[in-house]
Amino acid sequence: MSKVTVVGAGNVGATCANVLTFNEVANEIVLLDIKEGISEGKALDMMQTAGLLGFDSKIKGCTNDYAQTANSDVVVITSGIPRKPGMTREELIGVNAGIVKSVAENILKYSPNAIIVVISNPMDTMTYLALKATGLPKNRVIGMGGALDSARFKCYLSMALDANANEVEGVVIGGHGDTTMIPLKRLATYKGVPVSNFLDNATLDKVVADTMVGGATLTKMLGTSAWYAPGAAGAYLVESIIKNQKKVLPCCVYLDGEYGQKDICIGVPVVIGKNGCEAIVDFKLDAEEKALFEKSAEAVRKTNAVLKEINVL
Ligand code: 2OP
Repeated sequence: MSKVTVVGAGNVGATCANVLTFNEVANEIVLLDIKEGISEGKALDMMQTAGLLGFDSKIKGCTNDYAQTANSDVVVITSGIPRKPGMTREELIGVNAGIVKSVAENILKYSPNAIIVVISNPMDTMTYLALKATGLPKNRVIGMGGALDSARFKCYLSMALDANANEVEGVVIGGHGDTTMIPLKRLATYKGVPVSNFLDNATLDKVVADTMVGGATLTKMLGTSAWYAPGAAGAYLVESIIKNQKKVLPCCVYLDGEYGQKDICIGVPVVIGKNGCEAIVDFKLDAEEKALFEKSAEAVRKTNAVLKEINVL
């Protein structure tokens, strides 16, 4: 029996829970929100699709009742406010830090062995906060950003190539911010062949630029943050933990010397299995990528420093 809790029944949390349920990632899924009735209603709506979609998982909602989340194997935190057009993810820190900290603490009261997946923004800093505030071992707190950013990179690559996104490989490392993420164009491939064989430099640079503002573009269109891809990326990550799939995907994890960085949570390729982050794939970046990674880490550190200024750490 496996159990997953998703905290926050907003667009991202509900989409994540829906993908988890539909794909039968866990036997039991709990959706928790602070707003009375929202998670109960959304969970019941999803249960009413079981006879249409043919899944066997059970989902239930609850209002702020952490006892219902007891003994979860994985808990996904999506709580907090989403950004509005023109806002950066970093601007959300003041409101979201307190929320994420208290959610992480409540979760551990009932699921002391859970692996925590963080989606709330600013994602790198919220991951760092959840890790530091709970004192959990570093393998058990994972931020979802790189999985989402890489999916967006693959999407834009596939559109430029007129190819199936599943035939394309693309990795995004660094922070989950409009200016901090680093789509590694050198390593992007189509059927194992470097994409530079098919796309000229200008096209590839546009793919990289579009990827970096992949979320901001949607926020402008939608008036709020995106949800289908963020929710699905969270579920994709959870599936690798629950099913011990050992997928290699870029996630935000605590670095202790890898990639030349210490005391920071930032996106790098990792192996995701039943213990959470089971290994960090520490490969050699070229000089340009290394410089970008260092700049990205510096920006993430700057946002992390705000946690002390606002007294949440
Ligand atoms: C995004 O990039 C929500 O941060 C998320 O869409």
